[in-house]
Amino acid sequence: MSVHTKNRNRTSRSWDGVADWYIGWSGAEGSRHHKRLAIPALMELLQPRRGEAVIDIGCGAGAFASAVLEAGAAYTGVDLGQKLIAHARHHYGGKARFLVGDATRLPAMPQLRPASFDAAAFLLSIQDIDPLEDALASAAWALKPGGRLVLLMTHPCFRIPRQSGWGWDEGRRLQFRRVDRYLTPLAVPMQDYGEAGRGTTRSYHRPLEAYVSALAANGLAVDALREVSGEDLAPRNEPKAMRLAREEIPLFLALRAIKS
Ligand SMILES: C[S@@+](CC[C@H](N)C(=O)[O-])C[C@H]1O[C@@H](n2cnc3c(N)ncnc32)[C@H](O)[C@@H]1O
Repeated sequence: MSVHTKNRNRTSRSWDGVADWYIGWSGAEGSRHHKRLAIPALMELLQPRRGEAVIDIGCGAGAFASAVLEAGAAYTGVDLGQKLIAHARHHYGGKARFLVGDATRLPAMPQLRPASFDAAAFLLSIQDIDPLEDALASAAWALKPGGRLVLLMTHPCFRIPRQSGWGWDEGRRLQFRRVDRYLTPLAVPMQDYGEAGRGTTRSYHRPLEAYVSALAANGLAVDALREVSGEDLAPRNEPKAMRLAREEIPLFLALRAIKS
């Protein structure tokens, strides 16, 4: 099976068309999803240390910057979106470095040097970046030997845009997760939240094997994995069946790989 998405001539683009909506939802410090689930899982695997250099690829408005700075590491965020980067620079001042650039072409950025980062993160961005292989080759280029890379994404086995969803089994009185398609990579246009005609972003579904294969092809060996449920976000008085489904079917997947 090919691991390449359909529409290979399309590459990912910036979220500037939806920047106002995204900044309103997430801000420069991240949404509730970021703070309660995604950033803790990413920190657990990435473990940035004092004095290290961390690159956040597809950084948006900088939701990951505070956690890295609090750990005492130096932070560089890269994103295609000029509006998002401008917002991040305004929010963080000189405490963090934010660069406009293409995640699939990091070696073309004059501000970056090869093998100069101890750790690299894709926080909820890898599924919005295409081609995957070029993004991971770029990240591998930026990492020092022995450097850590973490991909934190919506779980590709259970959360396939437009091809998965919740269902209710009346006989067993349980909520189940339905998966309609999985193995075929897809480029899925997402809901338009931005300025008319500019706001449609694209999400790239790939099966798990596509991530592990592309990591391995770039000398990145997976050594840890976390599956994160949405239980911490459960509303009070949530019906038991829904709570069980929320606890059992993971929302996020985090994969760590080490550069050989
Ligand atoms: C869902 S947002 C996540 C942003 C941020 N990491 C966060 O968690 O708030 C995905 C980001 O990927 C960026 N992006 C998409 N393609 C890109 C590319 N080729 N190079 C750099 N950034 C890209 C978009 O501009 C957008 O900011």
